[in-house]
Amino acid sequence: MSHAEDHEGTRRDFLYYATAGAGAVTAGAAIWPLVNQMNPSADVQALSSIRVDLSEVAEGTQISVKFLGKPVFIRRRTAAEIEDARSVDLSDLPDPIARNVNLGEVPATDENRALDEAGEWLVMMGVCTHLGCVPLGDGAGDFGGWFCPCHGSHYDTSGRIRRGPAPENLPIPVVQFVDDTTIQLG
Ligand code: FES
Repeated sequence: MSHAEDHEGTRRDFLYYATAGAGAVTAGAAIWPLVNQMNPSADVQALSSIRVDLSEVAEGTQISVKFLGKPVFIRRRTAAEIEDARSVDLSDLPDPIARNVNLGEVPATDENRALDEAGEWLVMMGVCTHLGCVPLGDGAGDFGGWFCPCHGSHYDTSGRIRRGPAPENLPIPVVQFVDDTTIQLG
């Protein structure tokens, strides 16, 4: 290698490192505002619980409400949907955990996911556990529940992942009935 080539190589290396270094600093500076934004602001905290009136939700339909910036699906299931969800062999479930924050780490039976004992009400986050798209509902997909068209994840009538890249069942948020027709999220 001639002296000139050697010099050139050194200079290029220097430019490379200098650029990489500047990139790292820029990335570091960009991360802080992002993290800061993730801390809920006062107005979001004030909305950390909401009540939803279910009296107008007919059997076999669902509504979506926005809670803490994300969609929540509230479905009033038909007897057939409940029966479907409750007859599934747990060994067929890719994710064996109920993902119900109200119950802790319990098996993914439909009973552990539905809000009421009879299983009429299913309340869960409408956010695909793969990369966060909003799944389509009303019987979509191969298991009669929800389908995420982004990469083809199929959820059953209990919102459990059955096929596709999503790793987990749709999560159940903090939720409870406050009277016969009203639920509270959060
Ligand atoms: S985001 Fe739903 S399948 Fe990828």
